[in-house]
Amino acid sequence: MAEFKYTPENEVKFQEYVSRYPKIDSCMLPALWLAQKQEGWVSPEAMSYIADKLGKTPVEVYGVATFYTMFNLKPIGKYHIELCKTLSCMLCGSKDIKQYIKDKIGIEPGQTSEDGLFHLSEVECMGACGGAPMIALNGKYHEKLTKEKVDELLKECKK
Ligand code: FES
Repeated sequence: MAEFKYTPENEVKFQEYVSRYPKIDSCMLPALWLAQKQEGWVSPEAMSYIADKLGKTPVEVYGVATFYTMFNLKPIGKYHIELCKTLSCMLCGSKDIKQYIKDKIGIEPGQTSEDGLFHLSEVECMGACGGAPMIALNGKYHEKLTKEKVDELLKECKK
């Protein structure tokens, strides 16, 4: 079993989170988020590590990690494309954008490209409805998407 441990920098961040909350339980989401930022996903080893740090059982951490779709429970591509599929984005052409991205990178939502570069997810509203249609690329929002903008983004990722 591969061991998980926060990097020294992330350990400092974790301690900072701990100091912000009256109860250490409240740190579960930031602790999971930190693990995901470090490795790109939340491994079972990371969940056990977090459970130890928070005085919880691994199952309690697993319960939280599996509840939120923002946590990746298996390794994903270097670039995570999260495509909004909710109403405003849908009305503004997200289906066409989805088809275009699928054609360009050759994967369906939920899949990772063979070269490990891209992972595509469809997600619910990310609160940027005014910029529909939109995606988050490794957490950074790109709004009012067109096929040309998608081309530019994918080209940047492939550099
Ligand atoms: S509907 Fe797409 S960001 Fe809100």
